[in-house]
Amino acid sequence: VADASLLTPEVVDRLLYLTARAPSPHNAQGWRIAVDGATFRVLRDERRRVLRELDPDAREGDLACGAAVANLCAAAQALGFDASVRWRPEAVVAADVTLSAGSAPPDPARLAVIRDRTTNRSAYRDEPVPGSVLDGLCATARDASFELAIATTPEAISEIADVASSAGTLKLSHPPTQRELHELMRFSPRASGRSRDGLDLELFGVPALAARVSSLLLAPRVLGALASLGVPAKLARDAEGAPIRSSPAVALLYADGLEDETFLRGGACFERLALQITEHGLALAQHSAPIELGLARPAALDASVPGDWHAQIAALHDRLLTAFGCPPGAVPIALFRVGAPTTRPARRSLRVHPSEPPPAAPFYDELTTRNQPAISPDEQRALRGLRVLFAGCGSIGGAPVEPLVRMGLEQLVLAEPGEYEVNNLNRQAARLRDIGRNKADALADLARSINPAVSALVEPTGVTAENVDWLVGTTDVIVDGVDVTEQSGIIAKRLLHEEAWRQRRPVIAGLDLGGTQMVYVFDYRNGRLKPLGGRYRKSPEQLSALDFLSRIVKPLDVPRELLTYTESIVRGSEGSAPQLAPTAMQFGVIAAWSVLDLAAGRTLRSKVRVAIPDLLMPRRRRIANEAARVVQLVRIKVLLESQRVRNRR
Ligand SMILES: Cc1cc2nc3c(=O)[nH]c(=O)nc-3n(C[C@H](O)[C@H](O)[C@H](O)COP(=O)(O)O)c2cc1C
Repeated sequence: VADASLLTPEVVDRLLYLTARAPSPHNAQGWRIAVDGATFRVLRDERRRVLRELDPDAREGDLACGAAVANLCAAAQALGFDASVRWRPEAVVAADVTLSAGSAPPDPARLAVIRDRTTNRSAYRDEPVPGSVLDGLCATARDASFELAIATTPEAISEIADVASSAGTLKLSHPPTQRELHELMRFSPRASGRSRDGLDLELFGVPALAARVSSLLLAPRVLGALASLGVPAKLARDAEGAPIRSSPAVALLYADGLEDETFLRGGACFERLALQITEHGLALAQHSAPIELGLARPAALDASVPGDWHAQIAALHDRLLTAFGCPPGAVPIALFRVGAPTTRPARRSLRVHPSEPPPAAPFYDELTTRNQPAISPDEQRALRGLRVLFAGCGSIGGAPVEPLVRMGLEQLVLAEPGEYEVNNLNRQAARLRDIGRNKADALADLARSINPAVSALVEPTGVTAENVDWLVGTTDVIVDGVDVTEQSGIIAKRLLHEEAWRQRRPVIAGLDLGGTQMVYVFDYRNGRLKPLGGRYRKSPEQLSALDFLSRIVKPLDVPRELLTYTESIVRGSEGSAPQLAPTAMQFGVIAAWSVLDLAAGRTLRSKVRVAIPDLLMPRRRRIANEAARVVQLVRIKVLLESQRVRNRR
């Protein structure tokens, strides 16, 4: 049973992340969350408002805040807390959610449901949704004092599809709304990765090239000009009508009447339904155009819409309620379809991390004053605003912590399950007194001892399937120092790269090979690169450390001292690879520059090899060394080949 004092900075951060995984119209994420002790205050973020003209009372902002509150409560309960909600404690506040010691044990499966809930815009299969599932959804709605009407007959669904298509066409014909929609569309992976909000067209199943064409087609002036050719109507039929028609069930969440809290509570109720549907392994997608139009007030729209707009909207509203058999005064909250999807989105919709910009601090200015002018004020600000995940804090992951903190990095997340041992002292940033301490924890202290304003979150379990979405989803750059000498490391590395791919984050990975340092940059923001470059098709359980490394390291990159070690391993002797202080520190140096470059928006080479011992050799010795290296490489290749032949026999 959790105690409120267990609300550590790490738990609070994780709760904020899970809260922000809530759905929001156009993925605008129109909420702000302020934490005060055990109370989370959820407010509308006016800077992230949508439908400024169509929705003058910002009801959709309330829906998003309500959904965020539902996620916060579900996440808190999953982590073992109880959550109590006060709606609208003040006029400008959506809700206060106060956490306390929980009565039920933590439930990781519940966390997975929050993580996996997504808007699935694919066509759904022609398979009925079980009656027991639909009954459960209706019961959840009723529990929250709402009603859920569900259409399952082809006639009713077809009528709803027509209403949604017509509403979508009207929405696309309203210039201010069309402009807003265009601003929130992300037509390329890079645009989506950069803003981490808005609608990533890849999640609509739009191929990259078509997305680029759409950026022209959907430009407000172009779409306006194409209206007479029926282009908006065609787009609306594709985005609303066709997917609704494919679905076995379409639902309308509605209230009996309208009060100040209706849309807040409605948003929370919708999200509870969404989580329930996800738990059943089914998918859902909202089609809110008919509801959004119903929020419009004639006075606010008069200037920009054709004369009979309001009559059309009123007619669509009536058709919607009739199709669902709702009473005339019903207030629609959410229109969505439910079913088994034909495909599931491979990536996640992205979220901005809800942190405020750091305040001006004389200490920070003084700390970083000697960086100038090598680091410009803009770059310094960017570095200060950056959050870096150090996944694995040993020789590789631990090395960039100190140079980066000295350069001015202030937000770190350190994930590492291991503790310092005496044999780490030859290369890692540990002192005798750190032996036996968790490496992440000790590095957090080191960082804070340089700059007390550092925020260093510690995850002593390392990277796991359970925490990887939070670790990756809240950081801007990932330093991958996951050790792959053990199977658990190979599994963690795969999880890390798959999630970085899913959430479009750049990863800087290092590998020390004796005196040679290799650095690989996987920039998953570009949309083309597969996880780990697509080099690992086998499941991690089937890969040995040598298998893993041989796929990433080119034989010609391996230095001589490591070839000697490799040869002895191939010949069957035991032992571990040599690891040296200057090599590990070199990764610290290269990764620190790389992080600065990424903060400043510069791209990086995908591979860097630095072999200082080679640079120091006089030319003649270097040539002899290279020749001996090639001979040794050939010898190992022959050895491996003969072993393979023997094994086959
Ligand atoms: C009030 C509301 C209305 C929405 N309306 C639509 C819609 O009409 N069409 C659509 O494709 N998605 C709609 N969405 C889904 C959002 O676009 C989606 O939540 C957001 O992009 C984040 O993606 P996710 O739900 O997969 O996390 C709506 C969401 C909310 C909360």
